[in-house]
Amino acid sequence: MNPARNLILVGPMGAGKSCIGRRLAERFGLRFVDADRELEARTGVGIPTIFEVEGEAGFRARERAVLADLVRDEGIVLATGGGAVLDAGTRALLRARGFVVHLHVEVEQQLARLARDRSRPLLARGDREQVLRELAAARAPLYAEVADLRFDTGRMNAADAAARLTDAL
Ligand code: S3P
Repeated sequence: MNPARNLILVGPMGAGKSCIGRRLAERFGLRFVDADRELEARTGVGIPTIFEVEGEAGFRARERAVLADLVRDEGIVLATGGGAVLDAGTRALLRARGFVVHLHVEVEQQLARLARDRSRPLLARGDREQVLRELAAARAPLYAEVADLRFDTGRMNAADAAARLTDAL
């Protein structure tokens, strides 16, 4: 990885993008940025509220704009939201502006990690397992398209995943 660029983490909810990203930033001496938290800071409201008021389309438009802005920076570790790859323009931008790592996780593991989570509106749309399986199927080709490297976070904790990824990069 060329550290003058950015290290960009993509992958589904519960893959560990934020926890692992924070640790990778420490290891590489880079700044960690979480796109969802940045979006919340800029709007002053939580993601569920954005979905409620503006719908998913409104959220995606804001997500696109924040990501485009954040990747103008250099030397950051960026955790993106699980659906950041839905937009073709964003995928191209992420590839152009960083080394992209797809953090993969199986649905069973996502269900365990997100069991108590109430902050992700898509999970409230129906049976959680079904929602996650549909998202995984629809997005798998998009993660594959954008990623320079795929890394399975499986049953690993964030510290182990960050250590192994540091070796792999
Ligand atoms: C989403 C994932 C969330 C957040 C929003 C939508 C998605 O981010 O951006 O709830 O479409 O998969 P995390 O992947 O950080 O949970």
